[in-house]
Amino acid sequence: MSEPENEKKPVMKGLVLSGGKGTRLRPITHTGAKQLVPIANRPILAYVIDNLANAGIKDVGMIISPETGEEIKATMGDGSEWGVKITYIPQTEPKGLAHAVVVARDFLGDSPFVMYLGDNLIGCRIDKFVDNFNSSGSDAAILLKPVDNPSSFGIAEVAEDGTIERLVEKPKEPKSNLALIGVYIFSNAIHKAIDEIEPSARGELEITDAIQRLVSNGSPVQSQVLIDTWWLDTGKKDDLLAANTIVLDEWGKRDIKGSVDGESEITGRVSIAEGAVVKNSTLRGPIVIGKNSVIKDSFVGPYTSIGDGSKIKKSIIEHCVILAGAEIDHVDRIEDSLIGRDARVVRCHNKHKALRLMIGDDSVVEV
Ligand code: DAU
Repeated sequence: MSEPENEKKPVMKGLVLSGGKGTRLRPITHTGAKQLVPIANRPILAYVIDNLANAGIKDVGMIISPETGEEIKATMGDGSEWGVKITYIPQTEPKGLAHAVVVARDFLGDSPFVMYLGDNLIGCRIDKFVDNFNSSGSDAAILLKPVDNPSSFGIAEVAEDGTIERLVEKPKEPKSNLALIGVYIFSNAIHKAIDEIEPSARGELEITDAIQRLVSNGSPVQSQVLIDTWWLDTGKKDDLLAANTIVLDEWGKRDIKGSVDGESEITGRVSIAEGAVVKNSTLRGPIVIGKNSVIKDSFVGPYTSIGDGSKIKKSIIEHCVILAGAEIDHVDRIEDSLIGRDARVVRCHNKHKALRLMIGDDSVVEV
């Protein structure tokens, strides 16, 4: 029997959590949102929206905080670059992931939705995960990945047949190493579950507790364990370099839009954006070079991202993330380094060979 025509299923929406204060990646995010930290010259949020758009989601709510919301809006715009519509939803205080769902209640209506933490980067698409959820009749689906430090995450205890037995947020004595990776799918049943929970010991309304409530109420909750793909929780560890390496390795492309003179040698997957100028230099991919950058008389080795408007002169760099506007001049070799926006690393021509430094809070210099 066919369904009555007026009983159309609500279309799946997206909810991206980009609130919070972003203090964990100091000094890189002292002034900015951790969700905008660039990986291979693209903000983490760009990969998040790629993934939602690939799964066919057109309507995305984005939770923003008073501290970093404007910067996020200015960077991500209305979503048309991805063919989606982004609605910005202010959350005045970071009172928890489930609190963010409460704040987004009007936007979400009764639609099912993918909730995606805006500082998480995963190496796979989520379209199959969404399809499975749509055909399952579940009230929630969670993605899990084994981790070495389960006390730092929401953890799932899963029975042999895949049924979720218990979910605990950052357990002191974890009984499993399967972490919730920050991509969830919910039916509208999650709203009632959130109404039934209390703030946790850290004072937040935890989505983990709300999903546990669904489990306790006997609602169907699915899980899928990621085995062959990577997941980088960039908001937590200082693993930007690792994230940059993996993304360049897997997704880097050869794409030369800027100008390269005849004295330069470019090997492999090197992407040079418009307005960038490469003179008398050797570039070995995978590398990305941002708009209007200048690379002169230098060697740039693999797994390096150079942000817009940077200048690299008479220097050797490899496996580095150089953020926009930075300058490196006359430096013999920099490796495995993260150089912040508008930072300068230049040869000092003083006679007594002293280092002269102006280093921001929480920085590290190895000499
Ligand atoms: O990264 C995975 C982990 O993310 C899960 O294993 C945990 O179960 C989950 O609770 C979450 O833990 P975190 O402590 O890492 O969450 P964090 O406070 O870093 O927030 C994650 C993202 O959500 C981040 O982009 C900021 C945003 N956020 C956070 C809060 C607390 C909001 O937009 N609003 C909020 O109120």
